[in-house]
Amino acid sequence: MNASHQPPETFALTTPLYYVNDVPHIGSAYTTIAADAIARFKRLQGLSVLFITGTDEHGQKIQRTAEANQLAPQEHCDRVVARFAELWNLLEIQYDRFSRTTADNHKRIVKEFFMRVWERGDIYLAQQQGWYCVACEEFKEKRELTETGNCQIHTNQKAEWRDEQNYFFKLSNYQQQLEDLYRDRPSFIQPESRRNEVLKFVRQGLQDFSISRIDLDWGFPVPTDPQHTIYVWFDALLGYVTALLEPDAEPTLENALSQGWPINLHLIGKDILRFHAVYWPAMLLSAGISPPEKVFGHGFLTKDGRKMGKTLGNTVDPFELVKRYGSDAVRYYFLKEIELGQDGDYNEVRFVNILNADLADSFGNLLNRTLGMAKKYCRGQVPERSGSEISENCILKSLGLGLGERVSQAYDSLAFRQACEEIFILIRGCNKYIDEQAPWSLYKQKKQAEVEEILYSVLESVRLSAYLLAPIVPNLSNAVYQQLGFGIDFNNKNLVNSRELFQNHSQWGILPPGQALGQSRPIFPQLELPASS
Ligand code: MSP
Repeated sequence: MNASHQPPETFALTTPLYYVNDVPHIGSAYTTIAADAIARFKRLQGLSVLFITGTDEHGQKIQRTAEANQLAPQEHCDRVVARFAELWNLLEIQYDRFSRTTADNHKRIVKEFFMRVWERGDIYLAQQQGWYCVACEEFKEKRELTETGNCQIHTNQKAEWRDEQNYFFKLSNYQQQLEDLYRDRPSFIQPESRRNEVLKFVRQGLQDFSISRIDLDWGFPVPTDPQHTIYVWFDALLGYVTALLEPDAEPTLENALSQGWPINLHLIGKDILRFHAVYWPAMLLSAGISPPEKVFGHGFLTKDGRKMGKTLGNTVDPFELVKRYGSDAVRYYFLKEIELGQDGDYNEVRFVNILNADLADSFGNLLNRTLGMAKKYCRGQVPERSGSEISENCILKSLGLGLGERVSQAYDSLAFRQACEEIFILIRGCNKYIDEQAPWSLYKQKKQAEVEEILYSVLESVRLSAYLLAPIVPNLSNAVYQQLGFGIDFNNKNLVNSRELFQNHSQWGILPPGQALGQSRPIFPQLELPASS
């Protein structure tokens, strides 16, 4: 096969499958925005991407919420799922698969997987005693509860005492294999600080965990003992496998796994790291399936420096936010302002200030003033220069030349903040360059060649910046590209999915000389705080 016709490399990534006890909150939006930016970046590079998201619909928490709303559980789930789809649409999330754990094909996958683990001898019946947090759907150690016996994550929820027969998974059998996995594949858990948390936890010695519940109908029956219901986490993690199935494929493990396993990246919040980095690889090893490639645990969001919560009355409604400020604004704030592995804060004043400073002023005004000059001094066309003709001494050329690689590395390590910072060094560099070079006075002095060199360099830097920001702010990048005279739509995932396009457009110096420039108009509106703030 000709090298240029090799099938594209594949990249499969997931968000968590979100609980449907409530409409989506800003935490789920955060994970999904970050995952979408990665998916978009990989597509831009020409990879064949499978971006999986979905919902986790079984278990006591959902059953109780449905009861409280006087709805049949499935009806309740369907209603909330529609809200997720709506939010992802508003935020321009381009997922490829939406995995619902109540789907029929998922039932078959869970059953087959359970039987593999059963036949391996890793499941046994025993008495489970302990404190259970329904909101986490997890047993807690006494020391993990507050003085009043509440869960530390869900401080308004009392942990419930359970004393019942459950089926257990022999996690303890996988102590050594997991330690070997973490040692042999140091990048399996990221960032490093989270890896250390997991290593510490595992070194304390792994305890078997229960994977069935009694007195719960809303879930799949244990195949070997239908009186029991499969524990929601055992069921939900397998949703990642089910998602791989082609829509009309026979739902077998083999069929699913052949379509993109192992998953390259599970992007999750730090609160569910143990499930993904300890329980999940052990379950897979038991079933003879290799673990995923990477689990990245991002930090938690606070609002105005305080933990967010419904009872505290200080949640951030992602629907409201995106309707008020637009999807680019929301995507940019959370990816640029917060380092993905760290906790971060939402504050509306900072939100508005950052967006105005970066996107409306630094970037927007830059394009606007440069297009204005190009219209006046270069007949509304890209100056007749090529990147290679621009002097090596041009600061923008030297900033721009390695930028594509630096930003790609940042995206590859999920360092969105760093990617944005690198790009904005160039954007701010452009503004400074124009001020220093003052092309308007060079024009008056009839130094046309110099004017053209300056404008070419700035327009090209603007183009490259827009291209590299496209995974984060696709609409803004579209507007920039359009005004530079290109017909590329960053929201068309099939059209931008090209290795050749990436090789060309991620480099500095490719803006076609003589290309007709488009009409100048604001690429990002000045945002205003609502009157009440
Ligand atoms: N259903 C499980 C996941 C099963 S995966 C097979 C679950 N769902 S969740 O809806 O509760 O979690 C949603 C995601 O939102 C998690 O990644 C969680 O870390 C994240 N967040 C929830 N609150 C958050 C913040 N305040 N800040 C950032 N992310 C947070 O867990």
